[in-house]
Amino acid sequence: LRVAVLISGRGSNLQALIAARRSGELAIELILVASNRPAAEGLRHAEAAGIPTLVLDPAAWPDRAAYDAELFARIAAAAPDLIVLAGFMRVLDAAALAPWAGRIINIHPSLLPKYPGLHTHKRALAAGDALHGASVHFVTAELDGGPVLARTEIAIEPGDTPDSLAQRLLLREHVLLCQCVQWLAQRRAELRADGVYFDGRLL
Ligand code: GRF
Repeated sequence: LRVAVLISGRGSNLQALIAARRSGELAIELILVASNRPAAEGLRHAEAAGIPTLVLDPAAWPDRAAYDAELFARIAAAAPDLIVLAGFMRVLDAAALAPWAGRIINIHPSLLPKYPGLHTHKRALAAGDALHGASVHFVTAELDGGPVLARTEIAIEPGDTPDSLAQRLLLREHVLLCQCVQWLAQRRAELRADGVYFDGRLL
């Protein structure tokens, strides 16, 4: 499976994919890491791993549609089978996404459909939730709204803060993302017209 990863920042989920590939746990090729932020630390992980990088700063494009068209044209040129959004902090244009339906996933730090968008840890705490978690979902034009492939859960403990939750969850995110990419590589998971199938059964 040829995989392109889109990031905006730290890139710890990207690092988890790099490590899993290196250890042989994950049978994928990481063919491209793209970022909208030239300063994204994750770009350094890609360079260190010898993965080609692409930086497109949105400031140079007139609007979202034009930027996304260029970004996805450049990604398409690398011919990925799968695009992974791993901390890519931009909403994507529906027209640019359309050709990639079922071949683009995102990791989001909440138990979707709860808490799409930002500040998920703070919102879970404020709601008094007993459980928090992260989800990997297929990307549609609706922000964090596409069909969920899998979730991972953690218990919220007394004394938890948004930071402590984020830290604890991040370790689980790394496992979840690698697992989901592996399932897609093995063709165990698939998006069809009526939903997500796993081992041939509708989730
Ligand atoms: C993760 O919490 C991910 O769920 C969210 O953004 C964060 C990215 O972290 N979408 P990293 O850049 O992978 O370290």
